[in-house]
Amino acid sequence: MSKALKLGVAGLGTVGIDALKLIALHGERFASRTGCAVEIGGVSARNRRKNREIDISSYEWFDDPVALAESQDIDVFVELIGGEDGVAKASVEAALRAGKHVVTANKALLAHHGIELARLADAKGVALSFEAAVAGGIPAIKTIRESLLANNITRVYGILNGTCNYILTQMQKEGRAFDEVLQEAQDAGYAEADPTFDIGGYDTAHKLAILTTLAFGVETSIDTVYVEGIESISLADIEAADDLGYRIKLLGVALLTESGIEQRVHPTMVPKNTAIAEVDGVTNCVAFDGNFVGDILLIGPGAGGGPTASAVISDVLDIAKGRISPPFAWRTEDLKPYERARMRSHEGGYYIRLKVFDRTGAFAAIAGRMAEHGISLESIVQRRPAAALPGLDARGDDGAPLPVVMITHETTEAAIRAALKAIEDEGNVQERPRMIRIEKL
Ligand code: HSE
Repeated sequence: MSKALKLGVAGLGTVGIDALKLIALHGERFASRTGCAVEIGGVSARNRRKNREIDISSYEWFDDPVALAESQDIDVFVELIGGEDGVAKASVEAALRAGKHVVTANKALLAHHGIELARLADAKGVALSFEAAVAGGIPAIKTIRESLLANNITRVYGILNGTCNYILTQMQKEGRAFDEVLQEAQDAGYAEADPTFDIGGYDTAHKLAILTTLAFGVETSIDTVYVEGIESISLADIEAADDLGYRIKLLGVALLTESGIEQRVHPTMVPKNTAIAEVDGVTNCVAFDGNFVGDILLIGPGAGGGPTASAVISDVLDIAKGRISPPFAWRTEDLKPYERARMRSHEGGYYIRLKVFDRTGAFAAIAGRMAEHGISLESIVQRRPAAALPGLDARGDDGAPLPVVMITHETTEAAIRAALKAIEDEGNVQERPRMIRIEKL
């Protein structure tokens, strides 16, 4: 057997501790699977004395993760600190410059600086691996980098944030309020330190930007991702979607179009009879449309210590086997500049919810504005007012506005935005129209 592969683990939160546990538990198996033992050459975290689930006193301790990254006693630097800049970036750069392999779960770092780090890794002939950065335990990165390598991928999309999916699932299944459910996801340790990264869609955007580079061979472009979070999704939308045969999911979608690549994160209506609609709770999924393989959907745990540690160690074991792939599946020097398709040219169906004043001609005017913008309606449903009291009829004869839900046939984002602005300006609706995109599956 060759000499042991020594890891420096920086960041001892849930994932770091589970990674150490995994090595302690399965170390012998790793040696027989890779021909190389895996050992810990040092650890680093913010607080040495914190009460942890396991005893770390036998590992060499480093107060400074950069010193660990440069230590002679390690071959692989495992970065589990998090954050797009600061000490995470400094220590990863230090490790690569020192010729160490790097394994990281840091999606924000990769989305913002992945290409420059990949260039550094290439220059040193070392690995930069990040299976854990996207969808936790789901082998999404290896699927593109290995199993689907022969294909041209035309779309990659998925439910990439467990916290949002948990919130939407609880709202839909239990009729519970947004804030209460968010607190639960935070208590369970799924949410980011700042949960606005989850609910605002930014965490999904980071993961999507990484997938885009892997799938399409273009430079990572986080700043051009169109992002809408789930903050404005109401129980009224969830109920209306249900009645119309849809579920609402926060999707990240990267799509190859004739005018460039669309990268978008937004609440999305998916038909109830699709597998993705059944992906509930903190579970994630990642889907690929490949020109030869067809459509692939991977479903599994997207967050949490065990699944994320499993992905981290799978990268370590690749290195133990001597398998070093280009970080983003294409030779870094071959990555093309990102060509952005404008959101205004996005094509698809739309769900629209309006609160229409009960006036003669209001419906006709709304239908007229849609027609003027070339938008054809698949269905239009007048829903009972959400706050209707028993005995009140479906028209809401207390003078309250009438909730109306429309589903459009395929149209463009530019047309829908213009039509909704015209409807709002005309004054027949009580509040700004709600719009949710429908993804073709
Ligand atoms: N906050 C993330 C989520 C953790 O909820 O999915 C995994 O990246």
